[in-house]
Amino acid sequence: MPHDLDRHRPSRLPIVPLFRERWSARALSGEAIGHDEVLTLLEAARWAPADRGEPPWRIVFALRDAESWPVLLDQVPEAERPWARHAGALLALLIPDTAPQETLPPLFAAGAAWQNLALQATDMGLVTHALAPSAGAPPLPGVPPAYRPVAITVVGRPGRPQDLPEPWREREVPSGRARLERYVGEGRFPDPD
Ligand SMILES: Cc1cc2nc3c(=O)[nH]c(=O)nc-3n(C[C@H](O)[C@H](O)[C@H](O)COP(=O)(O)O)c2cc1C
Repeated sequence: MPHDLDRHRPSRLPIVPLFRERWSARALSGEAIGHDEVLTLLEAARWAPADRGEPPWRIVFALRDAESWPVLLDQVPEAERPWARHAGALLALLIPDTAPQETLPPLFAAGAAWQNLALQATDMGLVTHALAPSAGAPPLPGVPPAYRPVAITVVGRPGRPQDLPEPWREREVPSGRARLERYVGEGRFPDPD
C-alpha cells in the first residue's frame, strides 16, 4: 500500500511530485529486473551534469540471475544483506581518486548521476536504496586501481513491508526532512536550530 506522502513527506512549495515519491525503502519483492530496465536507469544517469560533460564516475551492475551477482552482493554490508538480497539489480558506483584538483570533486558528478537514476527508477515504480559499500569487500574484478566504490545501490521491485525482518520492518516508513531554513540562508549562513 503506498504511503501517505502528505503525512510523511510534506512540502509547502510546489516541487515536482517525483522528489517526494522517491525514498529509500527496503521491502523488495525479489522479482527480476530486466536488462533494458537497468539500462534505462543508467541512461538517466548519463544525462546528469558533469564537468565538461565527461562524467568521472563508472558503474558496474549485475542482475540477480547473473554470474556476477554474488560479486556485487559482496559489496553490500553483511548486516544489510537479509533485505538487499531481494533486489533485482545491484549497482556499484565508482569514482577515480586521481581527478585533477581544479575541477569539482568527482563525488559531485557521481551524486548527480545517482539522483538521476534514482528518480528514473521511482518513475518506473522501482525502489532504490544507496548503501555505503562494505568495508571488507574484495575489490571488484577488473576495476582499475584508481577507482574506488562510493556507493552500492540496491534496485528492486517494491515488496511487502510486513515480510521484512526486524529491525527494518518497523522502520519501513518514508523519512521526513527538517525545515528548509535549517539548510539555506538568504545572503548568509543559515541560523542554527
Ligand atoms: C551517500 C549516501 C550514503 C548512504 N548510506 C546508507 C547506508 O550505509 N545505509 C543505509 O541504510 N542507507 C544509506 N543511505 C540512504 C539514506 O539513509 C537515505 O537516503 C536517507 O535516510 C534519506 O531517506 P530517503 O532516501 O528515504 O529520502 C545513504 C544515502 C546516501 C545519499
